[in-house]
Amino acid sequence: MVEKQTVINKPAPARILEKIQETNRITTFQFAVPGVQPVPGQFFMVWIPGVDEIPMSVSGMDTERGIYEISVSAIGDATRALCAKNPGDLIGIRGPFGNGFNLNTGGEAACVIAGGVGMAAVRPIILDFLKRGKPLVVINAARTQKELLYHAFFEKNLVLETSYFTSTDDGSCGEKCFGHERFSRLLDGNRITVGKVYTCGPEIMMRHVSMVCEKHGLQLEASLERMMRCGSGLCGLCAMDPSGLLVCKDGPVFDGSVLKTLTEFGNYARDFSGKKIYFKK
Ligand SMILES: Cc1cc2nc3c(=O)[nH]c(=O)nc-3n(C[C@H](O)[C@H](O)[C@H](O)COP(=O)(O)OP(=O)(O)OC[C@H]3O[C@@H](n4cnc5c(N)ncnc54)[C@H](O)[C@@H]3O)c2cc1C
Ligand code: FES
Repeated sequence: MVEKQTVINKPAPARILEKIQETNRITTFQFAVPGVQPVPGQFFMVWIPGVDEIPMSVSGMDTERGIYEISVSAIGDATRALCAKNPGDLIGIRGPFGNGFNLNTGGEAACVIAGGVGMAAVRPIILDFLKRGKPLVVINAARTQKELLYHAFFEKNLVLETSYFTSTDDGSCGEKCFGHERFSRLLDGNRITVGKVYTCGPEIMMRHVSMVCEKHGLQLEASLERMMRCGSGLCGLCAMDPSGLLVCKDGPVFDGSVLKTLTEFGNYARDFSGKKIYFKK
């Protein structure tokens, strides 16, 4: 049996085993971390030697073999340096951190709605539901068809326009709209019946998903992202207004009733200096 533990203080060295180019900008890395057992929704702090340490959702997990995946969107210094790594290179892993998703849907179908690289955080839910043969609807949203994360896998393992739906900003795949708009139309048109919703992606999208869930009386869990330094509840950088809930420790997954109390949800996030950066509406 694998002993469950969290590596908090010192990054555990992990050698990259496999590198998969998912889209132009997103790369998946596979590596081994013995002795840890993350659950869907948790994240690792990933140390890129000589560059930085950054939070990354666990996007794939084989807990029996101790092999895990992260899917990285190259948007800045650390993520670009990480994406330049190759099999055989060393990175450092602390964690897993955070609370994770509650996969109990009370027997009802789950609906997973993700935008862009947000799909990485919710992929373990999808893999778990597929493995257990549980009812599932997936809505995958991105700017263009080429940026739809894990699209080929979903096309192969889910039924297009029945349990798998896409939306793109430019209309190159599925409907030309945002993920929450696709979700809302599917519910209004009685095309899907779901009991619980899981979401991760741009916060404006998640805010709209929460409003659609409220309108239809659906349970919701959303995975949030904030600037992080310690990843383990010590530095306070990821505190949410007004209650000070910590995204790294009390989250990153929050349910609909808590999201309603977080005044900064869908409005702004803080940069490393603590300054509020408002989301573009
Ligand atoms: C719990 C959690 C899970 C995450 N999972 C993933 C994942 O699975 N895949 C992935 O590609 N990214 C994920 N991120 C975001 C990722 O950590 C940031 O993109 C990364 O730290 C940026 O570092 P950088 O040096 O490349 O870019 P920077 O130059 O530091 O920043 C580039 C841009 O990203 C924004 N940014 C920086 N850090 C964060 C952060 N912590 N959260 C949100 N935005 C940030 C900055 O405001 C800036 O606009 C996650 C973040 C959190 C908090
Ligand atoms: S990142 Fe330090 S408390 Fe959350």
